[in-house]
This record gives sequence, structure tokens and C-alpha cells, in this order.
Amino acid sequence: MEFSSKFALVTGASRGIGKAIAKALCDNGAFVYLVSRDAKTLSQSAMDIDPTGKRVKAIPCDITSNTNIKELFKRIEADEVYLDILVNAAGIAPASCAEDTPYDEWKDTLNTNLGAVFSLCQNAFLSMKHNCGGKIINIASILGNYGASGLSAYCASKGGVIALTKQLATEWARYNINVNAIAPGYILTDMTKGLQNDPILNQKVINRTPLGRFGKVEDVANTALFLACNSSDFITGAVIPVDGGMSATLV
Ligand code: NAI
Repeated sequence: MEFSSKFALVTGASRGIGKAIAKALCDNGAFVYLVSRDAKTLSQSAMDIDPTGKRVKAIPCDITSNTNIKELFKRIEADEVYLDILVNAAGIAPASCAEDTPYDEWKDTLNTNLGAVFSLCQNAFLSMKHNCGGKIINIASILGNYGASGLSAYCASKGGVIALTKQLATEWARYNINVNAIAPGYILTDMTKGLQNDPILNQKVINRTPLGRFGKVEDVANTALFLACNSSDFITGAVIPVDGGMSATLV
């Protein structure tokens, strides 16, 4: 796969899945804008991904603010760059029982995981229209299709990401913009540290996963690479589970 003339923006690029996707794109020749909230961890991530600094640019941005997203795209525009690839990987997963979830937590989760994804897609659209095509990859979750105790806002937000992916795929196909989603199962990142560190929950995840393990960030990154390259040109509106078979099985 060769992305040498391609420009990508990856959110959530300071760690976990976003960082792995950004690294995979960069290793395959793309220039990658790295976005996440925390300037310090983002700049460390940029160093890890490309120590030469020639193929990455870190732009700290809290994507819960639409004004910040507009500023972010102004900075990219100032580089006279038109994006080819957008990967929406930033996300949060606060846990609380539905009856106890503070409304602000609900709004923040929906805003980060869904509202910001819409705004980022909307802003990237102009670049992609200019380029006569593009690839948008939204990181949803298997929990966009299933319930999970204590994660009402998260499940609702990821269900929204799946619906939005199909809707934008339909609307922007005429611009040659492919919009797809990846629905990861349980992946070894900071987000699942609590599960990993609890021996009972850890074993439960492994038992419920036909392939018998947590996913690695590279499992998700490899799928993102496929969706970003020309081999997937006839795929749009798809939601690809990367979950070791968890969503294929009932017990
Ligand atoms: P993580 O917690 O390791 O990383 C999340 C990233 O999102 C960080 O870079 C963080 O700075 C960024 N972020 C969060 N809020 C932000 C904001 N307001 N503005 C800018 N950046 C923000 O999470 P992980 O595991 O890498 O998850 C990445 C995506 O994959 C998320 O959307 C998550 O919901 C999804 N996912 C993860 C799974 C897992 O098992 N780890 C399973 C299914 C989906």
C-alpha cells in the first residue's frame, strides 16, 4: 500500500488505536496530521511515529468545541493542504449506571463521540470535494449494536456513529467519498485497562471472544489501512467488526 501523495488527519492520535492508525498511515508514506487534547502526549506520539518530524504534524485540539475544529481546519488550509483521509478515532467511555448518569456526562460523551465526528466529517468534506474523492473512517464499536451495562451514553453515541457512517456514505458517494466504520471489540488500550486488570472480567472477555484474546491496536490499524487505500474503492457505508468474532456469536 502506498500513500505517498496522501494527506491524512487522525483524531485520538496521542495513544491507543488512533496512534496505531496514524503510525500505519505514516509508515506507508502518508503525511499525517495528529490531533488529540493533550499537547504533551501528542508531541511524544509525533516523535514515536516519525522521529524525523517530516511526515507528521501535531495539532492539539479539544474536538468537543466546534470553534476549535474550525481553527484546526484553518491551520491545515494555511499549509495549502487538501485532506484525502480522515480517521475519527478520538473517543471517551465514562461508565455509570443509566439511572445515575449525570446529564453533563451524557452530553459530553455524545458530543465527543458523535457530534465532533459529524463536524470533522463536514469540515473534511470541502477538502475531499476539492480532491474529487476521499476516505473517511469512523471508529465505532461493537457496542454501537449491542447493549452494555453502565455504558448508556457510549452505546448510544457509537450507534449514532454507525448510523451517521451509512448516511454520509449514501449522501457523499456522488463526490467519490467513501465513508466506512470499524467496530472494534475489546482492544488492548488504556480505555480497557480496568477490564484487563480485573482477572474475572479479563477472562470473561477472552471466553466470549471466539479467537480467544483481546485485540491489538495493529488489528484495527490494518483494517483502517485497507479502508484508506484504493483496494476498498467499492466499499462504502460498511461497518467492519474487528472483534475476534465476538459479535458473530451468541454465547
Ligand atoms: P484511548 O482512551 O486510549 O484514546 C482516546 C484518544 O482520544 C486519546 O488520544 C484522547 O486524547 C482522545 N480524545 C478523547 N477526547 C478528546 C477530545 N475531546 N478532543 C480530542 N481528543 C480527544 O482510547 P482507544 O482505546 O484508543 O479508543 C479509540 C477509539 O476506539 C475510541 O473512539 C473508542 O471508543 C473506540 N473503541 C475502542 C475500543 C477498545 O477496546 N479500546 C473498543 C471499541 C471502540
